[in-house]
Amino acid sequence: MSESEVRQLRRRAEEVRWFHSLDLGHGVVTRGQDRDPRRLERMGLPGDLSGKTVLDIGAWDGFYSFEAERRGAQRVLATDSFSWQARGEGTGKRGFDLAREALGSGVEDREIDVMDLSEDEVGTFDVVLFLGVLYHLRHPLLALERVASVTGGLLILETEVDLALGRRPAMAFYPGEELREDWTNWWGPNPAAVVAMLRAVGFSRVEVVSPNSLAYRAMRAGKRLAGALRERHPQPVANAQQGRITVHAWR
Ligand SMILES: C[S@@+](CC[C@H](N)C(=O)[O-])C[C@H]1O[C@@H](n2cnc3c(N)ncnc32)[C@H](O)[C@@H]1O
Repeated sequence: MSESEVRQLRRRAEEVRWFHSLDLGHGVVTRGQDRDPRRLERMGLPGDLSGKTVLDIGAWDGFYSFEAERRGAQRVLATDSFSWQARGEGTGKRGFDLAREALGSGVEDREIDVMDLSEDEVGTFDVVLFLGVLYHLRHPLLALERVASVTGGLLILETEVDLALGRRPAMAFYPGEELREDWTNWWGPNPAAVVAMLRAVGFSRVEVVSPNSLAYRAMRAGKRLAGALRERHPQPVANAQQGRITVHAWR
């Protein structure tokens, strides 16, 4: 790439409101809100995806789709609806499209709501990524039925959790902006509920691979405090019962 092409790439990248921090090459790294350096480790994405088909549901800028391709996946389909339609505060699908072009990627895309996923619509995939989406949905159990219907092998699910000290399956309901001041968050299941729901929709083996660890919760509370100090306005302190987990489930 010539210097002027790199400058143009940088300029185009700066026009996008990124969710993911993505290395587009040539020294251009996008400034996404999602900068957790341990995110790949937390997801437990298999190191080698050679020959596998991968579906990334709620892909947004496509960080995990491009990573799956980098790890050898034979086919990757990225899907989303809400953020690609620019219904939030972002710049729609421009980030995904620019990243795919810059990376010379062959990741496919389809705008489709989770609730419309079915084998007839998209087929089934060896590995399905359902990361950071469950708690945004009004009907999580129904959504998991849709997700199960397109999972041929492994589902990797990552989600916000709440009421985490309880052992009985339970979910916190956020009718307003109770969770991180974001009206698009509806439900915070506890880890027991995530596992139970996955079993209820037909997954035979379910493992929590990244629990709601104290280290993660401490990091999150630290970030909130730093944000509050920086912006000079108080934010609710992170609730000790909230956090995030990753679960692997097999059909
Ligand atoms: C927090 S972001 C997670 C992005 C990415 N999967 C990750 O983990 O970094 C949630 C994504 O879910 C998508 N989403 C929310 N509701 C959806 C729905 N009903 N159908 C499809 N995607 C949805 C949003 O548009 C957004 O891109």
